[in-house]
Amino acid sequence: MAESASKAFVVGHPIAHSRSPKIHGYWLKQYGIAGSYEPVDVAPADFPAFLSGLRQAGFAGGNVTIPHKEAAWALAELRDEAAEAIGAVNTLWFEGGRLAGGNTDAHGFAANLDEYAPGWARNGPVMVLGAGGAARAVIHACLQRGVREVRILNRTPARAQELADRFGAGVSAHPLAAAAEFLPGTGLLVNTTSLGMHGNSEIPVDPSVMPDQAIVTDIVYVPLETPLLAAARTRGLKTVDGLGMLLHQAVPGFERWFGIRPQVTPELRALVVADLDAGA
Ligand code: ATR
Repeated sequence: MAESASKAFVVGHPIAHSRSPKIHGYWLKQYGIAGSYEPVDVAPADFPAFLSGLRQAGFAGGNVTIPHKEAAWALAELRDEAAEAIGAVNTLWFEGGRLAGGNTDAHGFAANLDEYAPGWARNGPVMVLGAGGAARAVIHACLQRGVREVRILNRTPARAQELADRFGAGVSAHPLAAAAEFLPGTGLLVNTTSLGMHGNSEIPVDPSVMPDQAIVTDIVYVPLETPLLAAARTRGLKTVDGLGMLLHQAVPGFERWFGIRPQVTPELRALVVADLDAGA
């Protein structure tokens, strides 16, 4: 367990828009911990030196975000199972003097659906839109929870195929055009593409042909209700926004650095929503 005055960071480039300091700052205050969590902007060329200096700078660990997640994976001396499967590290800590890297995005994805759509993993085949780092975390979470069939649809089919090969049995790759064929038999639709983000009104696929009991979720959380989620809601489907994934992925890191497993509460969610509304 970490000592009470632990220091943690989130490193990215840029880092100004990260919501993580808000989340961890809330928990530090909530649990009365005399620790800190600070944003650090580090350019890719300086990232290895930043990691080498963590111990000396007094950090217990921290979060890693774009564009450093793959470099952190390569530079970590130990990796947890999720990081190994996903190929990216978003959480760092020390274990027996060695730099350990984990990936909590899959946990965040699953915990968000557990909260708002319990039983999601037994709802039928999953369709994942997109084939980037976020898709890898989503697919890992689905397989961990026992989903038998995951279909990856991507604009660039070769990237979807790479992921299908990486994960093996139960995961298949298709072009985006195959959506109409598969949606009527899809239990959970997950958008990991940037379509629908920041006022982009495009919908990657049409959820109106999905079955009545289908669930639709988006990992995009700006806006909270993406055009895809709005279309799914209009159709009467269960929808889950992406903010819960962000909140829940923060939990395991906080516990590692500060020694308390924090709660994702309605109050925390409201605080981050207010921050998003302010456009900060
Ligand atoms: P991340 O690591 O956050 O998942 P990424 O690796 O940049 O981000 O992946 C973004 C995904 O969104 C990709 O699957 C991308 O499709 P391509 O592999 O064909 O590039 C998808 N994407 C981005 N813009 C898109 C668009 N306008 N239409 C369809 N898919 C899009």
